[in-house]
Amino acid sequence: MQGHRIEGIEKVTGRAGFVDDLRLADTGMEPLVALVATAPVASGRVSVDATAALALPGTRCVIDHANAPRMRGVFVASMCEPGTRMPLQSDRIDYAGQVVAMIVADDLQAARDALAVLTIAIEDGPTPAVILSDADDRLVPVKRAGIGPGVLKKGDAHTALAAATHVADIETHHAPHHPNPMEPGAVIARWDEDGGVTIHAAVQWHHIDASMIGQALGLGWGAGPAGLLGRAVLGCTGKGKVRLENHLSGGAFGRNISYQALLLAPMAAKVAGAPVKLVQTRRDTFSLMSHRSEVRQRLRLGANDAGKLTSVVIEPDIARGHAAFVEPVGEMPMQLYAHDTHRLTTRVAKLDLPGAGWMRGPGVAHAIFALEQGMDDIARRTGSDPLDLRIANHADEHPVSAKPWDAKALLEAYEVGAEAFGWRDRPKGGSSDGQGRWRGFGMASAIDLGRQFPAHATVTLTRDARVVVSLAVAEIGQGLLTGLTGLVSEMTGLPQDQIEIDRRGTDAGYAAGSIGSTGTYSNAAAIQSAVEKIKAKLARAAGENSTEVWLQQSALAVPGRDPVPLADLLAKTGDITAKGRAGLTFGAGGKQAKASFGAVFCEMAVDPVTLELEVVRLVGAYDCGRVLQPTIARAQLVGAMIMGLGQALMEETRLDRRRGNWTNAEIGEALIPTQADCPDVEAHFVGHQDGLMDFKGIAEIAIVGVAPAIASAFADATGAVIHATPLTHARRLAAVARPLTSRREAAA
Ligand code: MOS
Repeated sequence: MQGHRIEGIEKVTGRAGFVDDLRLADTGMEPLVALVATAPVASGRVSVDATAALALPGTRCVIDHANAPRMRGVFVASMCEPGTRMPLQSDRIDYAGQVVAMIVADDLQAARDALAVLTIAIEDGPTPAVILSDADDRLVPVKRAGIGPGVLKKGDAHTALAAATHVADIETHHAPHHPNPMEPGAVIARWDEDGGVTIHAAVQWHHIDASMIGQALGLGWGAGPAGLLGRAVLGCTGKGKVRLENHLSGGAFGRNISYQALLLAPMAAKVAGAPVKLVQTRRDTFSLMSHRSEVRQRLRLGANDAGKLTSVVIEPDIARGHAAFVEPVGEMPMQLYAHDTHRLTTRVAKLDLPGAGWMRGPGVAHAIFALEQGMDDIARRTGSDPLDLRIANHADEHPVSAKPWDAKALLEAYEVGAEAFGWRDRPKGGSSDGQGRWRGFGMASAIDLGRQFPAHATVTLTRDARVVVSLAVAEIGQGLLTGLTGLVSEMTGLPQDQIEIDRRGTDAGYAAGSIGSTGTYSNAAAIQSAVEKIKAKLARAAGENSTEVWLQQSALAVPGRDPVPLADLLAKTGDITAKGRAGLTFGAGGKQAKASFGAVFCEMAVDPVTLELEVVRLVGAYDCGRVLQPTIARAQLVGAMIMGLGQALMEETRLDRRRGNWTNAEIGEALIPTQADCPDVEAHFVGHQDGLMDFKGIAEIAIVGVAPAIASAFADATGAVIHATPLTHARRLAAVARPLTSRREAAA
């Protein structure tokens, strides 16, 4: 069922516009343009003098806390809504980069001109705390860390640790960083005659964000929690007061969820009395959209003589900003290896920062880095090969719930990855490459939770045998549209060009968001249940009570009977429409535990004089269930591995501790890997599953394990373990006891 990308031609020919590129023909609007002014410091009181800005002919209005329409507090399931205080509701500054004014002007240049003469006065507040090491007094123990647990206890982990033959005891640190998808993002909003609002934006989860907008703007119960419940639980559809239209998104990675521009654009349109496009600059996105939190962890592992884990003790300290979101660090690490006892204790510090949020592999990317460094440490102490140690600690059942796994192929991932990489034959004990550089080899395991989110699909089989699937899915580049189209073709036996995924945004039914590597298969489950109902109707039309029918080459196949041509049945039935739903299930929530797994291998070369490093090869083998579209899925894996490379080596958004603002909030300075940074990256699929719905997540598993594999290769090459991400040059210089001073010394 491999097809080309449904939206591929639109994208490569440039017809798929970012929201900022949409024109009258796309939206029916010629919007004014809004830009925001943000606070340069993290605390204080602000006042805005708009006199000069308003004197410019192109300025329509300037909105600040004094004249902004009131917004109500919201409760949003995504947890990354803009905090306890909605934008422009108070003169108090909570974090640097907070929106303090919004300018609406005739066009972009007029808005820039007005912004340049806007006078912002700030009465200083106390010195902010924006990094964990400045915030000891703010650390609070928590029972829950976002969607993850804050506390876990199995047996007496501390006693087991004290009795262990081998103990690893490490502290890791993880810098905050930002997802930087290509599209900075804009939001277009228009108030309509019925008092509702139409919004064009690139989002990951339409109905969740529509509910946020409805709550904040006070658009009544139908647009708030009650409306959301009606759609998410009961599958209600239809026009609401908040019409959030669907657009292809130029990447997202978790950041395009419940962001402030979704509230600011309708606010600006209301005040201006005309449609408005709010344009975010790249710098704006660093504080108007979310980042991955700073985290530090103390990790202790106890192992017996044979290197088997007897105790896992993890103590994360997690930074959060001005949103409910807390990085779910404790969610996954206990689920990777078999062990006797464990203890998780989490503390959270609320810092003077913008809201943190979801970013590919939330929680797990940090957590597995620490766990894998601990495993490497135990491997060194026991003198085992890192791979053998992981195999020895393989969890044959779910280590927390003791449930059996639903199709786990981690052992196969180790084998296939090691074979493709040549792990068993790697040079050991300090080899060098042809250029006099130290060579190092490292590996790590990966895990990510499998879960399904609610979705409601309406599927129509038309009398001319076309299938129209309607639900508010979000294509953020992951290939969901292509995957679902191929799958529906498989479910119905009809060719792909007779299948249409209608994705109008909130006018369509509630869909699972493109979040947590779950979007495609959660929505697929809803679609499947609708298709089953359609088949049952066709069977009845064919005079069959059996549900053992299936669709095949434009015919209904019935056991013990000649296939009945679909055309004949449809002539009788006319269009058939059915609704299907998928419910909420979590990884270990069902009878079987479910997760994606992986094994990552890295070869590195390090210059012994400068400690410049090159990741030479990355090989990953991933068990991510059934793969619908191998080309697209492989691109997902390779892309996520490259993101892991960024996490390991460069991604870090730095903070000015006095003023509290991000100092490298530009794409030229907040480094992410470019083509030239990318090594030879290989991704393999294992655990091949062919059952129609044997899905697990693909998108996020492949970032997990990459950073620890890279750190592990660095340790192998240099003998120095760096317990922090990213492994910056400064950290490398500090960690390696004495870099060599000459190539002659290196050769000796
Ligand atoms: Mo994902 S980080 O839930 O978009």
